[in-house]
Amino acid sequence: MRMVDLIVKKRAGEALTREEIQWFIERFSTGNMPDYQVSALMMAIYFQKMTMDETVALVEAMIESGDQIDLSGLPGKKVDKHSTGGVGDKTTLILIPMVAACGAPVAKLSGRGLGHTGGTLDKLESFEGFRVELTLEEIIENVQQYGLAIGSQTQNLVPADKKLYALRDVTGTVENVSLIAGSIMSKKVASGAEGIVLDVKCGSGAFMKTLEAAKELGQKMVDIGTRMGRETVAIVSDMEQPLGNTVGNALEVKEALDSLRGNGPADLMELCYALGEQMLILSGLAANTSDARRQLEAVIANGKALAKMRDLVAAQGGDPVWVDHPEHLPSASHSIELTAPSGGFVQDLAAQVVGESSMLLGAGRETKSSTIDLGAGIVLHKKRGDAVQAGESLAILYANAPEKLVEAAARLGEAYSISPEALQGEFPLIHARITSSKQ
Ligand code: URA
Repeated sequence: MRMVDLIVKKRAGEALTREEIQWFIERFSTGNMPDYQVSALMMAIYFQKMTMDETVALVEAMIESGDQIDLSGLPGKKVDKHSTGGVGDKTTLILIPMVAACGAPVAKLSGRGLGHTGGTLDKLESFEGFRVELTLEEIIENVQQYGLAIGSQTQNLVPADKKLYALRDVTGTVENVSLIAGSIMSKKVASGAEGIVLDVKCGSGAFMKTLEAAKELGQKMVDIGTRMGRETVAIVSDMEQPLGNTVGNALEVKEALDSLRGNGPADLMELCYALGEQMLILSGLAANTSDARRQLEAVIANGKALAKMRDLVAAQGGDPVWVDHPEHLPSASHSIELTAPSGGFVQDLAAQVVGESSMLLGAGRETKSSTIDLGAGIVLHKKRGDAVQAGESLAILYANAPEKLVEAAARLGEAYSISPEALQGEFPLIHARITSSKQ
């Protein structure tokens, strides 16, 4: 086989065979295929697209490049969750303890993430001593003992995707729906769960800006999961404005703890319930959404979800007392208030711009080596649709580096648009639920 023939074939719009895909991924991941040829093939795929057969062959070949996690030793049906990422998205911190408290074992592998705030792992490291670098044996042991574990993706989980994604990132070939879906699903399938619930974000603060694009990505991922023998469901949720009222690592942990105590903001809880319902149904613990909802509400009301959070923190090296005393979590020494320049109603609170402001405060990572200020971030007092008077507080910004506050507040001011008329129209948080196109 010659790589140039595969490039020419794809450039002409023909489908590659499973053998051809396996051949080039195997060579690429072992360092035996030059980047320039793989880049050329990615560009041909970008324009000519891939069939579902090609996409599944790519996912299988990438998975074979590294380790796969075997969760079969754990009791019950294991269900995982993945979010395509958004501003203020702290659902994992609430959802995993909730679902585990209902009896579904969860072994969750998360990332750190570049961007507006850290990823789930950074947020959890707000608990001093919290260990995310767990061995596979530790993950399994913790799930057996406590019903949940959240760790980092091991170095050798789908290494071909790591290499390919890095190459796509610098060759303008990230934005192909089959490549994105294949990349995400290769990691989910290799992580070993039998059921997968996907939260596909849609809007200004998301990777997918339009509902149409988010639905297309959701459908592709669900179909890949189904083809690979995993029951997969996707929820398409809104990311025009941030989720909940906080953006920033420790601030988001505090909001998650409030939520586990039953005091979560309505939008955040709606999404946690919607995702939790699907997880309980896939795990076989609930017959339908109303049964699942009843179980999830019960573990919030009776404190079992919060108790699972204490278990998680203690099992991974943190002090569980902090769950009940969030004042110990990292905080910021400086703050500034953003007030409304005029009265009226908030028409828009652009998630992307809120994210940029939080990045300016030091809550996110610009490059892989940047350090995060865990105490930095934003508490939003007004969101889309809220009435506001001139001079009233819109938000408070926190940072440990006071020189960052003024620029970040100016940027946050650009995220708000306020006008005298009340906001018209409907703004659903959940746009769609996507199941396999074969059903
Ligand atoms: N996230 C991934 O993991 N892969 C992509 O290709 C895009 C986003």
